[in-house]
Amino acid sequence: MERTFVMIKPDGVQRNLVGNIIACFEKKGLKIVGLKMMRIPRELAEKHYGEHRDKPFFGSLVDYITSGPVVAMVLEGKDAVTTVREMMGATNPLKAAPGTIRATYGMDIGRNVVHGSDSPASAAREIGLFFAPEELVDYQRDVDRWIY
Ligand code: PPS
Repeated sequence: MERTFVMIKPDGVQRNLVGNIIACFEKKGLKIVGLKMMRIPRELAEKHYGEHRDKPFFGSLVDYITSGPVVAMVLEGKDAVTTVREMMGATNPLKAAPGTIRATYGMDIGRNVVHGSDSPASAAREIGLFFAPEELVDYQRDVDRWIY
C-alpha cells in the first residue's frame, strides 16, 4: 500500500468543504492514517513549495497557504498518489475534468481547494515535513477486504 500527503487548503476550510472533501476520499476507499488541523508557519510553507521558489506565483502561493488554517492528512491505499491526483483534477479548476474535486469546488487557479503529492517521492518528503512518525496510525479496517 502507498501513502500520500493531502491538504485541504485555507479556502476549503473557510468554505466549509472539509467534510465533503474528506468524504470523497473516504468513500473512494482511501484510508486516513493521519489527520490534523494546523496553521502552516511561513518557513514550512516555503519548504513545502520549495521547488516552485523561482515561479512568479511563489510569493502569492505562500501567502495563500499561510492565510488561514488547513487540514493536513495522510491517506493510504493502492496507488494512493495517482488516485488522489486523479480525484483532485487539474491544477486550474477551469481545466479540471468534470466530477473532480477542483472542478466541483474551485473557480480559480490560485484558490484550488486541495493539494495532493505529485509522486511517491514528494509524498514521502511532504509527509515527513508535516507529520511526526508517531502522528501516523497503523490499523486494520475490515472494509478493506471489500475494497481490494
Ligand atoms: S507547475 O508550474 O506546473 O510546476 O505548477 P503546478 O505543479 O501545477 O502547481 C504548483 C503549485 O502552485 C500552485 N499554482 C499557482 N498558484 C497561484 N497562481 C498560479 N498561477 C499558480 N499556478 C500553480 C498550484 O496550485 C500548485 O499548488 P499545490 O498545492 O501543489 O496544488
